[in-house]
Amino acid sequence: MNLSDRLKTISEMIDNNTKTIVDVGTDHGYIPIYLAKNKKINYAIASDINKGPVEKAKLNIKNHNLENMINCRLGGGLTTVKKNEVEVAIIAGMGGNLIRDIIEDSLDIFRKLEYVILQPVQNPEVLKEYIYSKGYDILDEELVKEDGKFYEIFKVRYNNNIKEIENIYYEISEILLEKKHPVMKEYLSFKLEKYIKICDGLKLNSEGSISRKKELEFKVSKIKEFLECL
Ligand SMILES: C[S@@+](CC[C@H](N)C(=O)[O-])C[C@H]1O[C@@H](n2cnc3c(N)ncnc32)[C@H](O)[C@@H]1O
Repeated sequence: MNLSDRLKTISEMIDNNTKTIVDVGTDHGYIPIYLAKNKKINYAIASDINKGPVEKAKLNIKNHNLENMINCRLGGGLTTVKKNEVEVAIIAGMGGNLIRDIIEDSLDIFRKLEYVILQPVQNPEVLKEYIYSKGYDILDEELVKEDGKFYEIFKVRYNNNIKEIENIYYEISEILLEKKHPVMKEYLSFKLEKYIKICDGLKLNSEGSISRKKELEFKVSKIKEFLECL
């Protein structure tokens, strides 16, 4: 089956020795189907809070004859999974705030997982700050551009290791910078243009707008610095 670049990158972040996963908010079920079809895993739970997506996933799984490898479950977040039932969770295609809330609601299960792949659609920096401040290690990161949009993907594991980093790194990944990720230049240029535009349009008629301008100017100078290193 042909997966989009975003879903393929998420699937490729699953280690070869991982045997069991849960895909939270599975919708179409494409990730577990791809992983099972390519023999990357032995067993998956395809879980969704809504009935329609669960029915859609069931049909797709049946069409691929994978009912013996993928179990569909209806319910919110990780509530559909028992402790130690799977090694890994994938939570993709939702807002950063929702992903954070899903993690907070099932901390006992989440912290036992070997690792988790998170792909926020909006507010990735909110999720990143939460992850660092709650003691998770970021094992790896990826960046995908698809249909004109950028998607950050995090691979994380709980380690009770609270880390304080400069705010800018919640938004611009140190790992992607270090990797000199091939999409990073375009991503930074996109952000640079966006912030310069906002800055230019700001009317400096309140304390709030003056401090917003300062904040944006700082980001612009940091992004320029990062671009020089790529
Ligand atoms: C935009 S789709 C993403 C599908 C797929 N994961 C992807 O990345 O392409 C979001 C899915 O998450 C489901 N969802 C939303 N909130 C959820 C929650 N709290 N727990 C589980 N699933 C949820 C929705 O029903 C929907 O099917």
